[in-house]
Parts: sequence; C-alpha cells; structure tokens
Amino acid sequence: MNIRKYLDAEIEKALASQGASGCPAITKQAQRVEFGQYQANGVMGAAKKLKIKPHDLARQVVDNLNLDCLQRVEIAGPGFINLHLEPTFIAERLRAMRSSERLDVERAESKTVVIDYSAPNLAKEMHIGHLRSTSIGDAAARLLEFLGHTVIRANHVGDWGAQFGSLLAYMDQLAAQGEELSTALTDLEKFYMAASALFRNDETFAKNAREYVVRLQGGDPHCLALWEQFIEESITHCQAVYERLNITLTREDIKAESSYNDDLPKVVNELTDMSLLVESDGAKCVFLDAFIGKDGNPLPALVQKSDGGYPYLASDLAAVRYRTRELKADQALYFVDARQKLHLSQLFAVSREAGYLSAENDFKHCPFGVILKKDGKPFKTRDGADVKLRDVIEEAVSRARDLVNAKNPELDDAARGRVAEVVGVGAIKYAELSKNRTTDYIFDWDTMLSFEGNTAPYLQYAYTRIRSIFRRADIKPDTLHNSRLLLTEPLELELGVKLMQLPETLEAVAEDFQANILCNYLFELAGTFMSFYEACPILKAEEGVRDSRLLLSDLTANTLKKGLDLLGIEVVEQM
Ligand code: ARG
Repeated sequence: MNIRKYLDAEIEKALASQGASGCPAITKQAQRVEFGQYQANGVMGAAKKLKIKPHDLARQVVDNLNLDCLQRVEIAGPGFINLHLEPTFIAERLRAMRSSERLDVERAESKTVVIDYSAPNLAKEMHIGHLRSTSIGDAAARLLEFLGHTVIRANHVGDWGAQFGSLLAYMDQLAAQGEELSTALTDLEKFYMAASALFRNDETFAKNAREYVVRLQGGDPHCLALWEQFIEESITHCQAVYERLNITLTREDIKAESSYNDDLPKVVNELTDMSLLVESDGAKCVFLDAFIGKDGNPLPALVQKSDGGYPYLASDLAAVRYRTRELKADQALYFVDARQKLHLSQLFAVSREAGYLSAENDFKHCPFGVILKKDGKPFKTRDGADVKLRDVIEEAVSRARDLVNAKNPELDDAARGRVAEVVGVGAIKYAELSKNRTTDYIFDWDTMLSFEGNTAPYLQYAYTRIRSIFRRADIKPDTLHNSRLLLTEPLELELGVKLMQLPETLEAVAEDFQANILCNYLFELAGTFMSFYEACPILKAEEGVRDSRLLLSDLTANTLKKGLDLLGIEVVEQM
C-alpha cells in the first residue's frame, strides 16, 4: 500500500471540504518529524487561494481528519500538518509485506510498455558507454514488470548501414588471403579498427567497400551470407555481456534496424500520400515548424537520402509504426543518450503528423548523460578508442576479488569467485543507477567498490550481515511466522516506517525512471537498520522482543534483496 498517496488523498478531501478543492496536499516523508513520518505542506497554497490564515485552515483540516491509521496529528510551524502513524497500523502493513511476494506493492493498472534499451551498434564491440542504457533500461523493465505492466523489451541494435560495407569487404579480403574468419572475428573491435583504417587509407578498398554496401542492400546472397556471419558473431558477444551483467535481454528481444527494411518504402509512400515529404536536393524530408536550425532556417527530418538509401530516422519511424500498430504499445520508453535528443524529438513529431502516434500513445525519450573519467574527460583508451565493456567487467570482478580476499580469507574458492562476480558487477551497475539519470557522471573505481557509502557492496554487505544473525542463532526466518511485531522503541518504529515506504518509493521511480530514488531508499533503509541493530539488541532480548526484532530484520533483508533485484543486482548469503 502506498501510504503517502493514501494520506495525500485524505488530506485533499479534507481541504476540499473546506472549499479548497483541487489543491494538492503534498504529503511528504518529513525530514524533521519524529521517526521519518509524514508531513503535509499543501495547506499554505490552499489558504492563499481561500485568503484565510494557513494556521486556521490547518486547524480545520486536522479537525476533519479522522483516520484510523493515525495515532496523532499536529500542526507545525505556520501551517504544516504532521502525521504520526499508529504503530499497530505500521505493524499491519509490515505483516502484509511479509505475507506476499509483492511486499505490499499494489498492482498497477496494466499497460503495454515497449522499453527500447541497450541497442548497440553491431559493427563493433559494446563499450563502456553502453553500460548506461543497458543497466538503466533493464532496471526500468524489471520494475514495470513487477508493478504489473506488460513489458516488451526492444533491443533496436544497429545492424545495417554504410559501416558494414568495410566490414564485409574486409572479411572477403581476409578469406582470400586464406585466413580463418571465425578467428579474425573473435576480437570485433580490432576487426572494426582494421577495416576502418583500410577504408580511410586505401582508395581501392574504400571503393570496394562502397560497392559492398550497395550489393548488401540489393540483397546479393554472398554479401548477405557474410553479413549474417558477422552479425551472428556480434550478437553472441552481446549476449555474453548481458549474461555476465545479469541483464534480462535475450536473443528474442532483438528487433534489429534491418528487420524494418521491408517497411521503409511503405513509410515513404505513406508520408508521400499525406503530403508530408518535401524533396530537398534530391533527398526526401519532412519540415515541421517546431524545428528551426541555428541559422533560423527550417530543420529537415531526413527520411530518404538522394541515393535512395534510408537513414537512421527512417527505420525509427518504421519502428514507431510497428510498436503502435503491431505491438499495441500504450507507452514506449527510449533509453538513449541525451545527444540524440533532436533525433528523437523529430521522430516523435513526424510520427504524430503521420498518425503513427496518437494522443493515447505516450512515447518518450528517457535521456542520460555520458560517463566521464576522474579528470572529467570522456572515457577513452590512451589511443582514443572506446573502452570495451568486457574489459570493464573483468576489471570490476578482479578488483572485487581483491577486496573479498582481504575481507574474508576463510571463504572457499568457489564462494569467493561468486562473491567477486556479484560484487564487481553489482558495483558498476549500481554506480550507473544511483546517479541522477540525466547528468554526466564520473566513473571512479574506488568509490563504487567501497563498502561504505551509497554503493552496491555496502548494501550487499548489509544483507549478508542480517543473514548472519539468523545463521548464528540457528533460526530459520520461516519459523517466525506467528510471532508478533512489537514496535515500541523509537528505532523499531523508524525502521518499520522505512520498510513500509517501499511501495511509494517504487511508484515514485516509475514516474520518471529515476532509479536513484530506489537506490537512496535502500541506502537509507540499510542505514536505519544499522542504527536499529546498534540500539536494539536482538538475540539477547527476551523471546517475544527477540522474535519481533528478528521479524524486522528478516523484512529488511527481503526488502534489500527485492530492491536490488529490481535494479538487476544480485546478493549472496555470505561474504
Ligand atoms: N544503435 C543506436 C546507437 O548506437 C541506438 C538506438 C537507440 N534506439 C532507437 N530506437 N533509436 O546510437
């Protein structure tokens, strides 16, 4: 149950009964109210509207508020309303959390959501930049699914276009030299670099490469076969990365750019029939009033090039058309680099004009910033190449292994390997997710792998600490099922309230896909637990109190685990 939303609605009702209808209550988890309980501060705005003293209005609201879940209500400051929850009510919610897989999170009214994420360009290896779209998009997919929506993962990989000319020409060249292609393709990045260098420096090769593009797009069987071999290799590589990163994308989720090839002429015909296309230097474009260039001239949205080829926008238009017509998507979220803002706004605007998007379709760009090095510079290798994602994962796991070796040398080898994997991968993903999505962020190994602060290792460790309480006492959490929850100590109450806030946290994340809201919640939850643990002895307490505290501990562990799982981060029982 989303308590915050519930209180909000009740206070709004009370405000409305005083003549201030339509005024938001703005109930928040209050910072300074005892035990992190709630505060409503909408009275100020409403009072202004009614031209009465905020304090008087607050008084009337409070007198009209008669809720079983509240122990007491008081007016604070000029007209804030502090809401203190009834401990038995908190206990009831916690029971509800414990009794279901959903942890008291209500099912949303289901809609069909396409999540467009990861989408690497298959011509080369995935690089560190792909960590963003891949981790953030996957967390959104997990969360929306958990909330009860129908999620369609769409991996719009780039597998078509000019760069494949060089790659295919190079494949043929190597084969002619008697080289084993499958070996040459094991390092896609090297392969791509070699082919691009030839394209830049060798006229004959470049001419050849251009011909390969035309042949490929014309359906030449030899070129298609080479292309398929290359794509297959590249997809295998991506899937290996996804698996290692605990990303839920499968091969079935790939809907490549090339899969829209047959629809591209249809898109052009439909846009022509609607008189949306304008010929400009032989190319076909859409001009919309909303898009004006820096020079004051209208900005074209290019749909077909003068040589007949189709640009990026064309396959994206076909994808929107497919997503609304075939997939019946109510919503689509594009987790794409902020630098593609213009592309996506043109895409949505043209789609609306063309009728591919109606007023009911909520298609939006969820942008993110770039990953920077500690010195604030873009993340590149010394020779200016992209840093391979594979290498980043290797380094994360190897650094995590050193940490684990130092922290717990008693763990056996297999367990240590597993912990290193979970901690290393968790750390790099959490570093992505815990930042505000829209800003650039600095990739710093030491911060993300620290056991202190808002990091994955900290949360994973907090989880194992709770589990170890149960191990030490040799108690199975399931045996606590009939125990009573007693919330009497301030920190018991505080932890209880914090736990109960999972549903409202998840709903808040889903509003704008800022996973950092969930990260902050988990970080605060772990911190509250630690304070509770220090202040309230568990195993030394008398039986009833002990069991109640064990219940709180178990709920905390489950909530941490579920929260991390929704972020795509695993836990281990011991580390
Ligand atoms: N492949 C593109 C790139 O690497 C990203 C695709 C994003 N999705 C989309 N529907 N345009 O930049």
